[in-house]
Amino acid sequence: MLTLSLSDFTLEHFMQHYWQQKPVVIRQGFKQFKDLISPEELAGLACESDVESRLVYKKRGKWQAESGPFESYDHLGKAGWSLIVQAVNHWSPEVAELVKPFDFLPKWRLDDVMISYSTPKGGVGPHIDLYDVFICQGSGRRQWRVGDKGNHRQFAAHAALLHVDPFEAMIDVELLPGDILYIPPGFPHEGVSLETSMSFSVGFRAKSACDMLSGLADYVIDKELGSNLLSDPGRPIHKNQGQINASDFALIKAHLRSILDDDTLLADFAGSFLSRTKCQLDLQALDEPLEAAELIDTLQQQPLVRTGGLRCFYLDETLSKGVCYIDGERHAFGAKAKAAVRALCDHDRVSHTQLRGGLKIPEFVAALTHWVNAGYWYFEN
Ligand code: SIN
Ligand code: CO
Repeated sequence: MLTLSLSDFTLEHFMQHYWQQKPVVIRQGFKQFKDLISPEELAGLACESDVESRLVYKKRGKWQAESGPFESYDHLGKAGWSLIVQAVNHWSPEVAELVKPFDFLPKWRLDDVMISYSTPKGGVGPHIDLYDVFICQGSGRRQWRVGDKGNHRQFAAHAALLHVDPFEAMIDVELLPGDILYIPPGFPHEGVSLETSMSFSVGFRAKSACDMLSGLADYVIDKELGSNLLSDPGRPIHKNQGQINASDFALIKAHLRSILDDDTLLADFAGSFLSRTKCQLDLQALDEPLEAAELIDTLQQQPLVRTGGLRCFYLDETLSKGVCYIDGERHAFGAKAKAAVRALCDHDRVSHTQLRGGLKIPEFVAALTHWVNAGYWYFEN
């Protein structure tokens, strides 16, 4: 099990002074850190069409970026290129372990674990990210420069590569295996590999208001909600034909706000929206589906393991009704399932004891059986 060690400060200090505020180097955050996947396995994953990956390199001094899947890497030579693979925690249980040391942050904030394999002098160039990232150095050494937040001009160095103008470094460090560099959104940075190296980036991305409003609009349309018309009985005589007057504007705002003020609607939207995955899951459906009784029998002997990257949430508002959101879908199991729902959402592994209350509810057992047969949860043996 990977343990995060912050020798210079406490987690509370990190959250209060660095999280979302400023970058910091955590030397030997992971002691005796070993690559969680080999470069060969990573390169193999990038050959799969379900896996999101990119190759970044320079050709005659010009930046190039190609999207996977890839067939071969032979043309790339020994230096100056990087292979970046997204959401590797979905495909490798070993890599998914890297999420656990960051459990001081809620899962709904987690994006994914991105891994980059770089040959000497390889990197993706200077850029700004929209997410918080913990860059954990695996094998090899990489030089990182991080600049201050500010007005940095961004430009397309290639159609698929947004870069930033040269910046002055406030951090300029060589990361060794086990070192961690934390960078909040908005800080320009650039990593250049000093030798062949692997780095493991645990990213936390918050949604923009624009993303959420667009998701909310889709949700409301999908559920056929919010179709009641704005109404204005008792309207006074209107004077200026072209005017949307202040009281009409207040009416429009109140009409829209009635959707945002509906906590039940908003909780259902938030749970469904945030539990959707951005990248594909590695769902391995069982060749021989289990019956509910067989599932319960097996659960008495071993825990169920959640497939990497599967997002399962409840809100304080919904838990009392046994409502949870799994991979974008709302499920309601009733108040008696409260403890089981909580266990399912809070833990990557759940035992028979933890699920006991839910196992007495036929709807819960049916859902669990479906999830296991479809590969959302699995038994290791
Ligand atoms: C990399 O690991 O090469 C890129 C990671 C980043 O800068 O976001
Ligand atoms: Co970055």
